[in-house]
Amino acid sequence: MPALIVVGAQWGDEGKGRVVDNLGRQAHLVARYNGGDNAGHTVVAGGHKLQLHLVPSGVLHAQATCLIGAGVVVNPARLVSELDELAALGVDVGPGRVKLAAAAHLILPTHRALDGARETSRGKAAIGTTRRGIGPAYADRAARLGLRAALLSDPQELGKRVLERVQAHNRLLQNHYGLAPLPAAEIAADYVAYAHRLRPHLVDGSALVAEALAAGRIVLCEGAQGTLLDLSHGSYPYVTSSTTIAGGALAGLGFGPREVSRVVGVAKAYTTRVGGGPFPTELLDAVGERLREAGAEYGTTTGRPRRCGWLDLPILRYAAQVNGLTELALTKLDVLTSIDPLLVAVAYERDGKRTTRFPAEFGVEELAHYRPIYQELTGWSEELGAARRREELPAAAQAYIEVIENAVNLPVTLVGVGPDRAQTIWTG
Ligand code: GDP
Ligand code: IMO
Ligand code: MG
Repeated sequence: MPALIVVGAQWGDEGKGRVVDNLGRQAHLVARYNGGDNAGHTVVAGGHKLQLHLVPSGVLHAQATCLIGAGVVVNPARLVSELDELAALGVDVGPGRVKLAAAAHLILPTHRALDGARETSRGKAAIGTTRRGIGPAYADRAARLGLRAALLSDPQELGKRVLERVQAHNRLLQNHYGLAPLPAAEIAADYVAYAHRLRPHLVDGSALVAEALAAGRIVLCEGAQGTLLDLSHGSYPYVTSSTTIAGGALAGLGFGPREVSRVVGVAKAYTTRVGGGPFPTELLDAVGERLREAGAEYGTTTGRPRRCGWLDLPILRYAAQVNGLTELALTKLDVLTSIDPLLVAVAYERDGKRTTRFPAEFGVEELAHYRPIYQELTGWSEELGAARRREELPAAAQAYIEVIENAVNLPVTLVGVGPDRAQTIWTG
């Protein structure tokens, strides 16, 4: 059972990129299963800092084939530029190494324009999307109007289909939103060029995964976003438009549940969120500001400051439940140095009643009635960046990890004590 799923346990940006890179040295295949270039996954290794939006975070491990799976929506312009950037760094991103599932869907510039138009029209209720066209591209997929990556194999047909879709989107932009149309013929020509460039990368994604699994090889499934951004199980409507949870790996790559041996939930040692929507443990004070500065909490994709707050254990329990987590990877523990005391939400209170459940499925109106209950923990003042074993951490930091393990009833198998690949404590 060699499939491992890496999934965000909070609202994204938990450090999935670094955890996939950490685990990637054992993997034969590293596969992104959901989302698009709304994701920004950071890998820091060998003096290089990579910010990946589409190419899986295992790309620095030469033995690993990288797959962009069927569940992903792909902006081909971004993919081409990402491949070029990696090639310039000497990374092999040839068609033998980086593969694109034929059943993935293509994002069009008009999807981005529609994303922006819908956000603007929502006014104060804006979701705060990345404006990368993710929602409209998945909406077209669900409406069976989408363009699959398979079309890249026939550039002329793709050009024709792009022209039709862009013209249809333009009617919406003009008539419904009063916006200028985008140049359909130019866009179609661009997509013909992307097709010539990308078609050698096309593959039957599910077959590639099946082959690797049949050979007993390790398949590392890389989630984008996080549990609370899941379309069904997140803080709807302030979510993304894909299945971010572990089940999304099966649907997004096309393999079955019997193959999964580990589901690693990546959690930051505190909580962050980008964009709108509820965030019960948010800190709007100097401590929040401090987390933002110490943790460099600015969006990888949009540069927006991330909202910061205390760790929320009911959220991690919820993530364990909906993903079937087998373990946690705890990142950015080093960022908490010199914050004393440290608060962690252990439960919620509603109308005087205490609950340890996070009520994500009831939506934002219901969540507004819930107030977090905190436990105060002792902080530490030592820098953690050089620790490589759990015993080398200050007692208070070890205790912080134990509180999490006990609350979620899962082992923490990896701890991040700095952004670099080497700044990792393996405890599993
Ligand atoms: P992802 O979207 O889940 O892959 O996470 P991002 O890359 O968007 O954001 C995580 C940020 O935290 C990146 O800048 C990482 O380099 C950084 N990071 C990851 N792990 C650690 C850690 O243990 N300590 C510190 N200080 N930074 C980390
Ligand atoms: P990674 O993979 C954090 C958020 C946006 C917005 C909501 C919907 O790096 O963890 P979308 O553009 O997807 O329609 O936006 O989801 N969001 C993320 N937040 N990390 C991400 O990706 C995100 N991808 C989308 O900020 O609130
Ligand atoms: Mg990110």
